[in-house]
Amino acid sequence: MTIPAISRTVGTTRLEAVAADITTLALDAIVNAANESLLGGGGVDGAIHRTAGPELLAECRTLGGCRTGDAKITAGYRLPARHVIHTVGPVWRGGGDGEDELLAACYRRVIAVAAGNGIRTLAIPAISTGIYGFPADRAAAIAVRTVADHRNLDAVACVTFCCFGETTLRLHRGEIEALP
Ligand code: APR
Repeated sequence: MTIPAISRTVGTTRLEAVAADITTLALDAIVNAANESLLGGGGVDGAIHRTAGPELLAECRTLGGCRTGDAKITAGYRLPARHVIHTVGPVWRGGGDGEDELLAACYRRVIAVAAGNGIRTLAIPAISTGIYGFPADRAAAIAVRTVADHRNLDAVACVTFCCFGETTLRLHRGEIEALP
């Protein structure tokens, strides 16, 4: 059974959740769930680097890494997306190590970097919920609420929560539906 994507408007921004491979999306920017080295990895990081080609890694090498909770922008190279916004989510250590706040910081910084670079259409994967082990339901709530509450959100016309599977889609869909 496939779950229909969902879309609703917050202010002047459309928030939607879809099930897709983020490397296929032709948007102004896609977000990468990277590590602090910014030198590639597995998961969505590996997929983005594989599709973007070696020039992405070459540009990442010039950025001097990225702290957990921060975000940095590069070109998209061979990706259909024009830009990649790399962010580093927290590793889940049980919830007592500031993980929630660090994950929220990722989403805040991603929207701030998008707004600051004229990005109007943006897709974000479920940061930290794969290799970094963050509980998917808890992460979806943080993701949707942090984006919806962002004071610069109006600068971005559409934010797509790009889910890699039905469970993640169902979670993000539920959080979008539950927005006030
Ligand atoms: N498109 C969209 N989402 C994807 C894709 C894809 N092509 N591939 C994986 N995902 C999803 C995963 O299913 C998960 O829901 O992205 C989410 C984040 O998972 P990871 O990619 O494992 O990222 P994360 O949990 O943040 O761990 C980051 O993994 O790849 C390394 O270098 C990376 O060290 C860093 C760590």
